[in-house]
Amino acid sequence: MVDLIHPDVVSYAEEHSTPPPEYLVAVDAATRRDFPAWGMMVGRQEGRFLELLVFALGAKTVLEIGTFTGYSALSMAAGLAPGGRIFTCEVNPHHAATARKNIDDSPFADRIEILEGPALETIAKLPGPFDLVFIDADKVTYDAYFEAVLPKLAPRGLIVCDNTLFGGSVLPGWDLDAERRESGEALARFNDKLCSDPRVVCALTTIRDGVTLIRKVEPS
Ligand SMILES: C[S@@+](CC[C@H](N)C(=O)[O-])C[C@H]1O[C@@H](n2cnc3c(N)ncnc32)[C@H](O)[C@@H]1O
Repeated sequence: MVDLIHPDVVSYAEEHSTPPPEYLVAVDAATRRDFPAWGMMVGRQEGRFLELLVFALGAKTVLEIGTFTGYSALSMAAGLAPGGRIFTCEVNPHHAATARKNIDDSPFADRIEILEGPALETIAKLPGPFDLVFIDADKVTYDAYFEAVLPKLAPRGLIVCDNTLFGGSVLPGWDLDAERRESGEALARFNDKLCSDPRVVCALTTIRDGVTLIRKVEPS
């Protein structure tokens, strides 16, 4: 992935986000050790950002699409309103088992439920409403995830999509890596659609690899 933001600035922003608790430091270290694709974790800055969004919304019901080893679910759990819960979807059994152990080793075992299987099938069975939905699974399916969760979003809820800049692959002429082109093109179509979709208001922020915030517009 190309550096969209100068690495010194990224490090500075990470260092000036509240340090993670011990259980998340352990998840981060074990994920870096055991998973070559450890960069999929949201990490310290974005983890705190998600926690703060969950907190500011007073969220009680959160849906995550893409658990991996549990870093983002555990980050969001720290911001939940009393009695709140996180449902997190994961298709890869090894990722789900690792996340389950990590969650069991945290203070939030009773607040996070891992729903194993293809996320679109899982979402179809969940009634909502969701106060926050975090979309962070396979990039070619973002639009389908968005359409599946929009009707289940609480009126004052937010959809948060990760990697919407995708290392710059969404920009014309920036498709540096052929392997990433399909995802980059799908995300570019998704980004184009969102900003002219009258059902929603969105902002694509340049946090890390691009984080888009979306709210629903209620018909008047
Ligand atoms: C970018 S990682 C998630 C990172 C995680 N949110 C974190 O910050 O640690 C994407 C995850 O989505 C999972 N995934 C991919 N396709 C999926 C699908 N169709 N349904 C559910 N999970 C899926 C992958 O197995 C992977 O664990």
